Amino acid sequence: MVQSRHILTDGDLPLEQLSTVQPISYEEYLRRRGYTALPKAIHTLGPSGVLEMIKRSGLRGRGGAGFPTGKKWEMVVQRKADRKYLCCNAAEDEPGTFKDRYLLRSNPHQLIEGAILAAFAIGAAEVYLYINGRYEEEIEFMEQALQTAKEKGHWGKQVEGTSLSIELKICKSPGTYVAGEETALLEVVEGRSAKPRQKPPYYPAIQGLYGMPTVVNNAETLSNVAHIIREGVDWFRTLGTATSPGTLVFTLTGDVNRPGLYELPLGTSLRELIEEYGGGVCGGKQLKAVFPGGPSNTIIAADQIDVALDFDALKAIGSGLGTGAVIVMSEDACMVQSAIQYARFFARESCGQCPPCKLGTAHLSEILEKIESGQGDEKDLQQIEQVCGMVKGRGYCYLLTGASIAVESIFRCFREEYVAHVQQRACPLVGTA
Ligand SMILES: Cc1cc2nc3c(=O)[nH]c(=O)nc-3n(C[C@H](O)[C@H](O)[C@H](O)COP(=O)(O)O)c2cc1C
Repeated sequence: MVQSRHILTDGDLPLEQLSTVQPISYEEYLRRRGYTALPKAIHTLGPSGVLEMIKRSGLRGRGGAGFPTGKKWEMVVQRKADRKYLCCNAAEDEPGTFKDRYLLRSNPHQLIEGAILAAFAIGAAEVYLYINGRYEEEIEFMEQALQTAKEKGHWGKQVEGTSLSIELKICKSPGTYVAGEETALLEVVEGRSAKPRQKPPYYPAIQGLYGMPTVVNNAETLSNVAHIIREGVDWFRTLGTATSPGTLVFTLTGDVNRPGLYELPLGTSLRELIEEYGGGVCGGKQLKAVFPGGPSNTIIAADQIDVALDFDALKAIGSGLGTGAVIVMSEDACMVQSAIQYARFFARESCGQCPPCKLGTAHLSEILEKIESGQGDEKDLQQIEQVCGMVKGRGYCYLLTGASIAVESIFRCFREEYVAHVQQRACPLVGTA
């Protein structure tokens, strides 16, 4: 049997059609054998059986770090506590990322069933679906799907007619980037502002929501769960690579002919995604660089695009898969301008509670703006790496490290362009397009 590469989606989707996608109905979800994993889990597998399957499936988190999902669940299962929680993270506010928005819109029941299965496996009676507050229509679709799923007995006081009780609630995220960080998420669910907690000691699996062991999983991660439980581990592992099984919903943006959403087996080459699925670089231009995993992961130059898009292959070349936000840049892109764009984003999105983050991201923006305007000198070039080196790894969360990785990797990859800005006292690319 030839396995389809689409598990979570119905096919590739051009970016401009995203807002027109309608959710599949409950009946259609049932027709696709939806809500059959749940009774199988409850009546046959039990919580430990579900956990075991997710561990053996090799599913890794789709929220950025690629952490093994089964291992994350197991850490919570092993803790003794009065209550345990599950939070589904659909805060999604990184540049170039819109896969969770699509998954929420197109197939809310897939996510709901996955979340109920995860809650069942870890022993959580409460689930928070944490959704970007600006995704108003998606929230509406999710509310309707939740209502139907509850009426049909899939969640609530008597899940699948048993004495099991699992409640699901939507919590709106403030629609800022940092609000997607897992401990900032917990703060928001508890009713405070989106400011990350210090780790240690506040690892969600140990002291999470209301101090209780908590699993925080990305919406795409949870969307995979019902498929794995229903179709089996061996089936799941036929897609992807041995260490990165399954598919990933890539979001392809930037200077590419067909920007959009492409669900592909992990391990597909970056070249294939850009050239075959994305139709190549716009206007027949040469490719210059790509962020293969959003701006918080190292940029790579055009000669590296034969890399496989999986967690380990990208790590091996010093980058990362992140959330699968692939951002393409053509020969016309000014790499100082690109760095400014991301530095400004991180500076704007810094929550401000950690001084190195607030000051570091602002300072990086200033240095880059000075260079771009032709006012920079050799000292400014040195400062880029110095500031990045100084701030990396500081702050309560990864935002600052992500910011320094973006800026530093662009600088290191395209140093000669920065030198040209300083020597020519202007952008050397102006007027060349
Ligand atoms: C600044 C920042 C923003 C983040 N935003 C998101 C987000 O929008 N969605 C998400 O799933 N994870 C986000 N993360 C990662 C989460 O902290 C967490 O690792 C993830 O939700 C875990 O899910 P997973 O194990 O399923 O990947 C963010 C991390 C940082 C540092």
